[in-house]
Amino acid sequence: IKTQVGIIGAGPAGLTLALMLQKQGIKCVIIENRSREYVENRVRAGLLEHNTVEVFEELGVADRLHQEGLVHHGCYIAYNGITQRIDFQKHTQREVTIYGQQEVVKDLIKACLDRKIEIIFEAEATEINDFMTEEPSISFTHGGENAILNCDFVAGTDGFHGLGRKTLPKESYNEFKIEYPFSWLGILAYSKPTYDELIYAFHHEGFALASMRSEKVCRLYLQVPNDEKIENWSDEQIWTELENRLGIELDKGEIFEKGITPMRSFMIDNLQAGRLFLAGDAAHIVPPTGAKGLNLAVADVRNLAKGITDFYKNGNEDALNNYTKKCVSRVWRVQDFSNFMTYLCHKQAENGSFEQLLQKSKFDYLRMSEAYQKTIAENYVGLPFEAFE
Ligand code: FAD
Ligand code: DHB
Repeated sequence: IKTQVGIIGAGPAGLTLALMLQKQGIKCVIIENRSREYVENRVRAGLLEHNTVEVFEELGVADRLHQEGLVHHGCYIAYNGITQRIDFQKHTQREVTIYGQQEVVKDLIKACLDRKIEIIFEAEATEINDFMTEEPSISFTHGGENAILNCDFVAGTDGFHGLGRKTLPKESYNEFKIEYPFSWLGILAYSKPTYDELIYAFHHEGFALASMRSEKVCRLYLQVPNDEKIENWSDEQIWTELENRLGIELDKGEIFEKGITPMRSFMIDNLQAGRLFLAGDAAHIVPPTGAKGLNLAVADVRNLAKGITDFYKNGNEDALNNYTKKCVSRVWRVQDFSNFMTYLCHKQAENGSFEQLLQKSKFDYLRMSEAYQKTIAENYVGLPFEAFE
């Protein structure tokens, strides 16, 4: 097969990129190793920045998001039961939307297929060839057969474990990472949220986060040790611990999904080798406390789509050659905020230790300082794209 842009991975990054390119009349094909059903049901993030919603509006894929998504104008940050609201509206005049990643992915896949963008599901990219030339290609397997996708550009939007980053020459980048000594146990439950906005709660037994998906579905998380097994937690224990840490009563409905996710910060500082470009989780991972993973993926592909468009429309490669630089300044900002929120909200040091008292001091300051609240608000809702241009 031949196309202009070969995209590996039908996650938020790859699908959004395809829709952006299609809008500019640029052809692309997506290769995805999982089935459509699998990617549409993979439970992950749930919070969309203002920027991300605007991108989806521009692409004409935000109808269901506006009908079913929940717009939030603030969130709560609590320390051992004392709660401070962060007012996004007041500090930023922007808001966030709660809408599950799997719903985003369903909407994006539907739009791609309606617009005749080819997505080859259950096709595994095995090699990216000749990316230092003007005629790269992707080798993949599909239905037991080997095949080749010839293209002008390859987008590695294939997530943290994908082929894109493995293919990027090792000497072309520096790698940065932190593995945190805790994980998140996350649940989805058929429960009515008993809170109106998200609650990020520090508790001396560990962090808890109360989020939601709708009037009838809650999404909740607990900090657990890295070696924790999900089998060790009965539903009743989960609810008891959530109520304890959040300090509120919950509607304890049926838990229909639970899992444990490790927390890491990871990034590389080069996203391009010749005609191969990385975007999204392929290039960086942030701990989920800042709710940024999906949003950062969308910010990356917005830059990539602009660069590729400039190449085809104007024969200008400057934007493409500046792609890494453009993305990485935003990535650092988001890494810092995600790391800050993670250290702020998780239990780390013993009660009474210097570290723990510094952490408490941050919460005391948060309650007295509008400036500190504003700093959190503007990062949380997402700094405008223009701030990095
Ligand atoms: P992905 O969504 O990972 O998409 C990559 C795609 O590439 C996948 O569909 C994969 O199947 C495909 N692929 C990989 N290799 C190949 C190959 N060789 N050939 C073909 N296809 C391939 N963020 C938050 O903000 N909050 C959260 O609560 C949160 N929870 C998360 C929980 C988990 C378990 C994970 C893994 C991530 C979570 N994230 C969360 C992060 C967020 O979901 C990601 O940042 C987001 O999915 C990034 O999108 P992406 O398109 O870059 O990558
Ligand atoms: C959700 C996940 C997050 O990591 C976060 O910071 C906020 C909300 C969620 O899944 O709803």
